[in-house]
Amino acid sequence: MIPDARRSSHEPVLVAEVVDLLIGNPKGAYIDLTAGGGGHLRALAEKLGLDARLYGLDRDPEAVDRTRRNLAEFRQVRQIVHAAYSDLKAVAGRIGEDGFNGVLIDLGLSSDQLAEAGRGFSFSVDGPLDMRFDPGSGRATAAELINSLSKNELTAVFRDYGEIKQPARLAGAIVRERQTKMLTTTTDLTAIVEKHSYSRHRNKTLAQVFQALRIAVNGELDELKAVLPDCVSCLNPDGRLAVISYHSLEDRIVKRFFRKSASGCTCPPKLPVCVCGGKPQVELVTRRPIVPSEEEVKSNPRSRSARLRVVRRLAT
Ligand SMILES: C[S@@+](CC[C@H](N)C(=O)[O-])C[C@H]1O[C@@H](n2cnc3c(N)ncnc32)[C@H](O)[C@@H]1O
Repeated sequence: MIPDARRSSHEPVLVAEVVDLLIGNPKGAYIDLTAGGGGHLRALAEKLGLDARLYGLDRDPEAVDRTRRNLAEFRQVRQIVHAAYSDLKAVAGRIGEDGFNGVLIDLGLSSDQLAEAGRGFSFSVDGPLDMRFDPGSGRATAAELINSLSKNELTAVFRDYGEIKQPARLAGAIVRERQTKMLTTTTDLTAIVEKHSYSRHRNKTLAQVFQALRIAVNGELDELKAVLPDCVSCLNPDGRLAVISYHSLEDRIVKRFFRKSASGCTCPPKLPVCVCGGKPQVELVTRRPIVPSEEEVKSNPRSRSARLRVVRRLAT
């Protein structure tokens, strides 16, 4: 089925919780760094006063176009920008905001991207192995990676980004198969995984393999590590940063960064007392991650692995 490019099929996750925890000042400036289908932006626009300034950003030009069209009715929505979120500081300068009262990051990919066969994100539909959030970025596609990386490099991708059991076995199978035929489609990759994986959990393994390649293609974990400190430094005092993650690799990065920023101390853990004098930059709003209710998971199964963590900027 060809998705209707004008509408979004993406169901936003933990919407009420995000709106509740992100908005401190209804007249403030807010930015959603992963605008996607615009669901969180819409909910924020509906809650914010007309004086508020709301911005969106996405690396995917199709998501940007769709969200611009779908949210045109809201006066609060000032701009939807096409950029990677690691460019936050430059984008803030361009749009003329010194600081934000709320920053949202909803990681992963949208249902719109997953549904579009031509993007290559889904193992359930045949399509080219692309997987770039921004097809115009000049980054290597998933096909270019699996046809060119060495066995060791592929093993590292599957181990570090997919937490796949026996990653070398799968990498070896890919290297052997590509000697006879270039691997260019999602079906080519799916067939190798099905043939060479020992796991009885077909869908879980395929999801891990596709996740690993997507993270490698888009440099997702490096993007996240780069943007978190910028988010905190872009927050006004009392401003909040909310991050929704979908797997343990993302959540670990967020959890560690939030804990470090809330402690401020950069001393080696072995030292009995703090000697660095570092001051906390944020306060943890959520001590434990917020997860979707049973009802939300039932109505939107893709929400099941979501974890929301929020911090509040201290006046330093
Ligand atoms: C889960 S979706 C967001 C859905 C959105 N919250 C909604 O309500 O529709 C994640 C989005 O993040 C975007 N994205 C991923 N990495 C990005 C990056 N480094 N910079 C900007 N956008 C990114 C993807 O293109 C995708 O549209």
